Amino acid sequence: MFLLRKRVVTILWWVGAVRAAGAQKKSGFDFVDPLIGTINGGHVFPGASLPFDVNGENQGGFASDNSDIVGFSHMHDSGTGGGASLGNFPIFPFASCPNNNISSCPFSYYERPIPRKPNTVSARPGYFAITLSSEIHAEMTVTEHAALYRFTFPKVPTLANTSLSPVIMLELDDLARSAQAENITMYERPMGRMTGQGTFSPSFGIGRYESYFCADFKGAKVKDYGIYSGAWNTKVQSLKGGKKRDKNLRPLGGWVQFNVPESQNQILVRVGMSFISEKKACQNAEKELPTFDFSATVLAAEKAWKKKLDVITIDAAGVDEGLLTTFWSGVYRTMLSPQDYTGENPLWDSKEPYYDSFYCIWDSFRSIHPLLTLLDPKSQTRMVRSLLDIYKHEGKLPDCRMSLCKGLTQGGSNADVVLVDAYFKNISEGVDWALAWEALLSDAEIEPMDWDVEGRGGLLSWKKLGYIPTDNFDPNGGTGLVTRSISRTVEYAYNDFCIAQIGRALGHKDDHLKYLKRSGNWFNMFQPNQTSSINGVDTGFRGFLQPKYMNETWGYQDPIHCSPILGQHDCYLNSGGGETYEGSSWLYTFFAPGDMASLITLLGGPERFIARLDFLHESGLLYMGDEQAFLMVFLYHYVGRPGLSAKRARSYIPSLFNETVGGIPGNDDSGAMGSFAALTLLGIFPNAGQDVYFITPPFFKSISIKNPETGKTATIRNVNFDGGRENVFVQEARLDGVKYERNWLQHRFFREGGTLELVLGKEEGKWGTGKGDGPPSEGPFGKGGELLPKSGLGGR
Ligand SMILES: *[C@@H]1O[C@H](CO)[C@@H](O)[C@H](O)[C@H]1NC(C)=O
Ligand SMILES: *[C@@H]1O[C@H](CO)[C@@H](O)[C@H](O)[C@H]1NC(C)=O
Ligand SMILES: *[C@@H]1O[C@H](CO)[C@@H](O)[C@H](O)[C@H]1NC(C)=O
Ligand SMILES: *[C@@H]1O[C@H](CO)[C@@H](O)[C@H](O)[C@H]1NC(C)=O
Ligand SMILES: *[C@@H]1O[C@H](CO)[C@@H](O)[C@H](O)[C@H]1NC(C)=O
Ligand SMILES: *[C@@H]1O[C@H](CO)[C@@H](O)[C@H](O)[C@H]1NC(C)=O
Ligand SMILES: *[C@@H]1O[C@H](CO)[C@@H](O)[C@H](O)[C@H]1NC(C)=O
Repeated sequence: MFLLRKRVVTILWWVGAVRAAGAQKKSGFDFVDPLIGTINGGHVFPGASLPFDVNGENQGGFASDNSDIVGFSHMHDSGTGGGASLGNFPIFPFASCPNNNISSCPFSYYERPIPRKPNTVSARPGYFAITLSSEIHAEMTVTEHAALYRFTFPKVPTLANTSLSPVIMLELDDLARSAQAENITMYERPMGRMTGQGTFSPSFGIGRYESYFCADFKGAKVKDYGIYSGAWNTKVQSLKGGKKRDKNLRPLGGWVQFNVPESQNQILVRVGMSFISEKKACQNAEKELPTFDFSATVLAAEKAWKKKLDVITIDAAGVDEGLLTTFWSGVYRTMLSPQDYTGENPLWDSKEPYYDSFYCIWDSFRSIHPLLTLLDPKSQTRMVRSLLDIYKHEGKLPDCRMSLCKGLTQGGSNADVVLVDAYFKNISEGVDWALAWEALLSDAEIEPMDWDVEGRGGLLSWKKLGYIPTDNFDPNGGTGLVTRSISRTVEYAYNDFCIAQIGRALGHKDDHLKYLKRSGNWFNMFQPNQTSSINGVDTGFRGFLQPKYMNETWGYQDPIHCSPILGQHDCYLNSGGGETYEGSSWLYTFFAPGDMASLITLLGGPERFIARLDFLHESGLLYMGDEQAFLMVFLYHYVGRPGLSAKRARSYIPSLFNETVGGIPGNDDSGAMGSFAALTLLGIFPNAGQDVYFITPPFFKSISIKNPETGKTATIRNVNFDGGRENVFVQEARLDGVKYERNWLQHRFFREGGTLELVLGKEEGKWGTGKGDGPPSEGPFGKGGELLPKSGLGGR
């Protein structure tokens, strides 16, 4: 997803290229730089987070630019291309108010933003700190449902003629400023407690959600407290001593004023969050942070992260340290979402886990979920169960979901791919595969009323015509955006491919055949005579996916349209049109991940295929900042040229994926860019939905992954490793000492452990080039596409 350019969020924090300095680094944890991707549209959330937890401070609400700080909030999504997500109930500290008069304090959203102090940001997993220009040092850490802040105030406030009398305010709003029906209650006991609620809009979806907080303070005596009102020229009312609230004031927030802190000029703020109630928010905070112990909480968060990261071991001898930062930070970001909201789902009662922020599966199915399956199968299992529970209670699998709401569908019903990928990788504990099968069939067969938020649209045509017509009209079905007919066609076809595969494994023979047939539907939008020119110069390639109408005649979309070369942003959900979502026909013409053999035949055979794929990568047509590009790096494996994939991977890392703050080429989309980099650096990029990992030499001397379920370790070792300079081509491979010819791996290797040795050289070797060495292909067109209709063969 690469939406959103319009909305610039006023944001909560910092500046500058931070690169943790070298000295005593030990584990992967030490290499994580949460700030990568916090500038230039990466939308990464760098604040304190736990793996998959409800809370972190700030959102993608922070940016490494010079924007002012308006507050610190407790829940975020990372890397979204949609609107600003979450960021509910931000708090903000003042050392004093003008003339020591609370009524003059600039509480409003428009008046309070202040600059950050340059070079004061410090970010690592579970911890974030920054100093404001008011000389207040703000630190934050997290537990599962609560955030803990530590504000250190200056002895003398920077504001003239005032003395230290800290004020901490809380605003009843979110990053998108979507709050409604908000309210706040102030308590004399516990000291200065505030609780409250509001309803909010999801950032890339429909409906509303309710959120609740409970804030408590420690470290100074309360002098006064109350509420404020008014977006400008705020009116302030004290409620001290149980004063009655002024009926004319609609509270926009609350504030607590303190005497000079008791120790080190510090005040701690604990904010519990809940989607259930204010009471639950307080209970969450009291349970997880009973003593407001800041350092113990940081340590616990670090420990949780280390445990997640320590399943990977890297031998980085001879490799630039930047690659390690890119790698570990990518793994870290992969683990920020989906978030575990178990116990916090107000929508239905269930014993199943509840995860949220599947944001969005179109972005995450290709690399995030496969990487989680490798590193943290327990969490992936719970996510799969949660997806099925959502199906059970909402009637459909989500394609995107955030803050308890349905999110927007971008293409296919790609939760299908997540489920099938998990199935073939032995994700099974407590998973009801019969229910999964039902959910998959529902996606494939039953059109929902609003297919902009779930399922598929145009199913009538899909079944009758075998493609999504560009002018589709569906008298019986639901409604949705009638765009993206080409990209939806190829994605639906791949979804059906995945259903066919699991169908066979589950013993549904007829369905296997039925969906395998439908998996060839991508072919139906292939216009064999279509040519493509750039600036009037013929590219020399013929045959591209093209719009096709209900009457089976062809339409036209320039094959380069919606690429970086022509109208790149014309095919977004919110830009009104285009038949190829966030990419060009050039790109989508390569998308037949289940049956690459037939596609290669269709495009004129291996040599023409390689030439065309090279052209895609080298002509400027491909944008690596969007997820459909990922697989394109590795398709050379299907023509027996794994060395070309290895070489191609090295043309993008580190040039586009690196350790700088701007080091990702597009929205991170909850870790998609990070997981792409991590998997590519490991040399095991997956073809999601299949039990296939493409082997390319790791960027490190060796890598090991310990499967947390089986306890077995899989190691890939490069022999003749020269730091990745010249020896990047596999000459020969040995799996546990036995010659290994295939250029791909199966998940068994990671479950059962073993050692794969790759002997490297300067030139492409013979390894993996033989017939039958490539990954499998299957479809309705015969083994190598020999049953493709002859009139369909283009590409010359
Ligand atoms: C405090 O500020 C308010 C608003 O600016 C003003 O109306 C009020 O008179 C001030 N109070 C004192 C004691 O100066
Ligand atoms: C601070 O107080 C001094 C002396 O009373 C006065 O001259 C000055 O204007 C005040 N400054 C501000 C910012 O109010
Ligand atoms: C808001 O909270 C106050 C204080 O707890 C309460 O008296 C009031 O009824 C609430 N208002 C609404 C609309 O819920
Ligand atoms: C893992 O999954 C594969 C593919 O579905 C299956 O053949 C194998 O038996 C499974 N292994 C275990 C230990 O469950
Ligand atoms: C492609 O061109 C050939 C030769 O002109 C023609 O016979 C065929 O019908 C065309 N196919 C399509 C789909 O337009
Ligand atoms: C087919 O449908 C398209 C789109 O509605 C229309 O422009 C075209 O004229 C139709 N062609 C025929 C042969 O009916
Ligand atoms: C790092 O990645 C960014 C974003 O893709 C790119 O613009 C930049 O040139 C890269 N920097 C280096 C030093 O490779």
